[in-house]
Amino acid sequence: MKKSAQIRETLENASALATQRNGLPQLLRNLLRNLLRNQASVKEGSPAKERSAWGDAWGEPCYDADFMCIYFKNMAWIKDPEFVRAYTKGMDSGHKMGRPKGSQKDIHIEWRVHMILWAAQHAMQLEGDFVECGVNTGILSLAVCDYLNFEKLADRKFWLFDTFRGIPEDQMAASERAHAIGANETSYEECYELAVRNFAPYPNAMLVRGKVPESFANVDIQRVAYLSIDMNIAKPEVDAMEFFWDKLVKGAPVVFDDYGWAHSGEQYDALNAFARSRGVKIATLPTGHQTLIFGPPGFSVGHSAEMQSNCPAKDWRRRLPKWRRRPNPLFCRRLPRRGAASAAKVTALCSEEPDFGPTRKSDEPFSYAASDLG
Ligand SMILES: C[S@@+](CC[C@H](N)C(=O)[O-])C[C@H]1O[C@@H](n2cnc3c(N)ncnc32)[C@H](O)[C@@H]1O
Repeated sequence: MKKSAQIRETLENASALATQRNGLPQLLRNLLRNLLRNQASVKEGSPAKERSAWGDAWGEPCYDADFMCIYFKNMAWIKDPEFVRAYTKGMDSGHKMGRPKGSQKDIHIEWRVHMILWAAQHAMQLEGDFVECGVNTGILSLAVCDYLNFEKLADRKFWLFDTFRGIPEDQMAASERAHAIGANETSYEECYELAVRNFAPYPNAMLVRGKVPESFANVDIQRVAYLSIDMNIAKPEVDAMEFFWDKLVKGAPVVFDDYGWAHSGEQYDALNAFARSRGVKIATLPTGHQTLIFGPPGFSVGHSAEMQSNCPAKDWRRRLPKWRRRPNPLFCRRLPRRGAASAAKVTALCSEEPDFGPTRKSDEPFSYAASDLG
């Protein structure tokens, strides 16, 4: 047997051990998963660092978080008060990714949020709804809602798809099981009620509980200006792309949270195959994890001058300097006051609770695996 085949076989055996609930104790399984992830992230062919060519310019990293170490870049964006407010809103959503339940620790995913806010701001110039598949407690989408004052955008909806209880085991490919089951155990739990509370200030945020793609059957979405996909496994992500591709308006950004991670090879391959089939390419950003493609080239739904002029949310605001782009109450349509009762208004379009397999029990020891953040 060739050495590479032997290594693959050993990794597959280890992966099987790491996923068997009745096999090793939880802590050992987590250790094994981390080892496997590290193995997955050792890539051949990464270019050598040619620091010497740039003299002393490197200095100290200006951003060293979320598995990125960045040097010598303009970091002004990270201090922008609007960014800070939106970021904090998402980070305080009560999630337990990269931190134990109840912890308020900042998991420092600023650059991801920066990219998602940029994409969402771009989408404001297009006609159509916003969509996120893989919402959990809403770090990214709450940040977007806050940044854009989404509650004031009466002509748009923000569709938020999730099981709100973790990744369905029956959709996991063999190579994804170790990571995805680990993420279900450490990072996701029943969080629907929490999400309803989090999004209550945004009456146009539509929580759709259920398994993607089945849950798409319950909605009527015509045009999409912004699509964020973050479900951590390949199958529903490709299903979502199949479903939304023809609904994306020209120039709509699609942001994948996981595509560029070293351990997300299944998503990388599957999404590349999808992109190829539609004649586009996905950019792997230097930030590594969040990655963009833009809506169908030449596809023009929602982009005509007539439709543009029908989009009251943006026109007057786009002409203003940035500091004045916050909606002025004098110009905005009046919306009903929000209160405790509005939580009930958040639409639960698919309320049945299919069995997605067991979630982590709260008494099990917590062990944070680095790549649960993906
Ligand atoms: C990494 S989390 C999403 C994090 C979220 N984007 C945020 O900003 O906080 C992945 C989510 O995908 C959801 N998910 C995975 N597969 C799914 C599927 N087939 N249908 C619906 N939700 C799914 C999980 O329940 C989990 O909440």
